[in-house]
Amino acid sequence: MLTTLEPPPSDRLYAKVRNAIPAIEWPMFANDIDAIMALKKRRNAVILAHNYQSPEIFHCVADIVGDSLALAREAMQVEADVIVLAGVHFMAETAKLLNPAKTVLIPDRGAGCSLADSITPEDVKLLRQKYPGVPIVTYVNTSAAVKAESDICCTSGNAKAVIESLGVERVIMLPDEYLARNVAAETKVKVIAWTGHCEVHERFSAEEVRQLRQDHSGIVVLAHPECPPDVLSEADFAGSTAAMSSYVADRRPPRVVLLTECSMSDNVALQYPDLEFIRPCNLCPHMKKITLGNIRSALETMQQEVTIDERIMRPARLSVERMLAVK
Ligand code: 13P
Ligand code: SF4
Repeated sequence: MLTTLEPPPSDRLYAKVRNAIPAIEWPMFANDIDAIMALKKRRNAVILAHNYQSPEIFHCVADIVGDSLALAREAMQVEADVIVLAGVHFMAETAKLLNPAKTVLIPDRGAGCSLADSITPEDVKLLRQKYPGVPIVTYVNTSAAVKAESDICCTSGNAKAVIESLGVERVIMLPDEYLARNVAAETKVKVIAWTGHCEVHERFSAEEVRQLRQDHSGIVVLAHPECPPDVLSEADFAGSTAAMSSYVADRRPPRVVLLTECSMSDNVALQYPDLEFIRPCNLCPHMKKITLGNIRSALETMQQEVTIDERIMRPARLSVERMLAVK
């Protein structure tokens, strides 16, 4: 009897990334992609991927993609047994906080974040002593232990709304100094900042933006609010990674630059081949620790499970839930 063999999923998926991955390199990815697709079914797993993941992850194996806020919201809705978080550790912790009954895997536990590393729970306790009664708003780019010491979380997508929802004159905003200063410029609320920086976004400079405008006439400059304030002053638009994607989708600027991690431009450019993307490349070494190979082995071995201490779980979850309740 003749059986018809279905073509492997990688055959169909290549069309999505052909402008980013040369055909000669595709067999190196295809094998892992086909194995991951089969493992997702076997383990009843979904892959949540941040916008900074490489195209072969973002466009080929991810089930849900987005910025930190979208990934947090989506994690809460997951019904599958297993969540693989293709992103950095704080994102996997947030998924676990919001859906604790699920097994949450991170393919490389070492995928950290310079912002999350810039502050400890003890620092937050000291700030509370120094500024009694001032609410502490904590960026999601922090450990669950830091979130547990905070009043409410925010992301780059909702920071202003979160701060203004508190109805106070003054807030402490941790740990990103630039995000805090950028938000402070847009609100009447007084913002006390910490001194953490994103090692990717702090490298952009206002001079670089001026040079880009000189070299590429008519360029539209989009910047992430983790960039220094003088970079945002030179940009045409500032917003979270999702807001930058939406800007491109809605306005279709013929020539554009995204001042953020460089895989993000690759991913958006694949969706809009008719637009010209100028791509200064600042890689996030933590995001780039996630690969098809370690996603595959996470699903094969069910290893690198994210767990959170019970004493931290409740207060940290509350901080994230308060954020999600802000419209
Ligand atoms: P977004 O929430 O805008 O996706 O940003 C997350 C991040 O880590 C930016 O560096
Ligand atoms: Fe952290 Fe910056 Fe990497 Fe985002 S890009 S995960 S803020 S180090």
